[in-house]
Amino acid sequence: MKLSPLLNLCLACTIVLVSACSKQAAPASGNAATAPAKIKIGYLVKQPEEPWFQYEIKGAQKAAAQYGFELISQGVQDGEKVMAMIDNLAVAGAQGFVICTPDVRLGPAIMTRAKQRNLKVVIVDDQFVQDGKFMTEVPYVGMSASRIGTKQGETLAAEMKKRGWPMAETAVCAITFEELDTARERTDSSIAALKAAGIPADRIFKAAQKSTDIPGSFDAANVLLTQHPEVKRWLILGMNDSAVLGAVRAVEQRGFTAETAVGVGINGTDCIDELRKAKPTPFFGSMLASAPAEGFASTEMLYKWIKDGTMPPLDTRSEGMLITRENFEEVLKREGILP
Ligand code: GLA
Repeated sequence: MKLSPLLNLCLACTIVLVSACSKQAAPASGNAATAPAKIKIGYLVKQPEEPWFQYEIKGAQKAAAQYGFELISQGVQDGEKVMAMIDNLAVAGAQGFVICTPDVRLGPAIMTRAKQRNLKVVIVDDQFVQDGKFMTEVPYVGMSASRIGTKQGETLAAEMKKRGWPMAETAVCAITFEELDTARERTDSSIAALKAAGIPADRIFKAAQKSTDIPGSFDAANVLLTQHPEVKRWLILGMNDSAVLGAVRAVEQRGFTAETAVGVGINGTDCIDELRKAKPTPFFGSMLASAPAEGFASTEMLYKWIKDGTMPPLDTRSEGMLITRENFEEVLKREGILP
């Protein structure tokens, strides 16, 4: 199938979502006489406590207000909750849902249940996987993981150079979660960019997080730090802000400061309190991709699919830009993330 690129300007417009559009048209769901009074759309997320997902839901609420549909948002932390919620949505009269699944391998089961319940599905953030392959036939909205990861690595290399840190004293702490494809793509690309900038492979240490939250990354980093007491300066990367924040807390506990450690996150939404701290911490900045823009775009395309039968683009990706203590207030306001 031929894919044509499209540019969708989102929210405040500086972060763009780039779509590869499917030309195929789906049949319209019902006619005016049988259509329900108000379209209802679910928004299901794996980690409702993470600010990234809260900002996505805010974007979805904005779309709901603009188009006049009802949004039902819910945390789905495991497979059981996902299946129960699909049933609940059907009973509530919803016509579809956007989902960031707690496990990408649930994709086939989610699609089977959704089809049984006559619900349309748009994936956000974590693309479904079947037999080791992405389920590219289901519309997906997410990050341009490799490009954002590359920028993270390039930023870390540039900060090391700026500080004149000797290579012999410096090492990279890469917090990884390789079972999730978008996470692996981000950290692999970040590591590749560091290598391209001249950092030797034997100075790059991976630490696998067991859970994708701050405690999970804190524990992973702690093991690594115990193994490498000789390292004087750390560059820290991970798949998102929480991954980098956990490692930052771990290095701080061993006496590292903003002078001796530099971390760059991804998301830009889960580090706002950190960047607001009066004293700089090793958390230098984050690659911001607009969560509200993703929430808005994913629900907007699902709404139009339900209402008009317009098949959404199959692949829509957001780009990232660096925010630091210097510019984050201004950029986050411009993006509609801060009031
Ligand atoms: C994953 C991560 C989130 C966020 C999204 C962005 O779901 O767990 O923190 O980075 O990707 O797509």
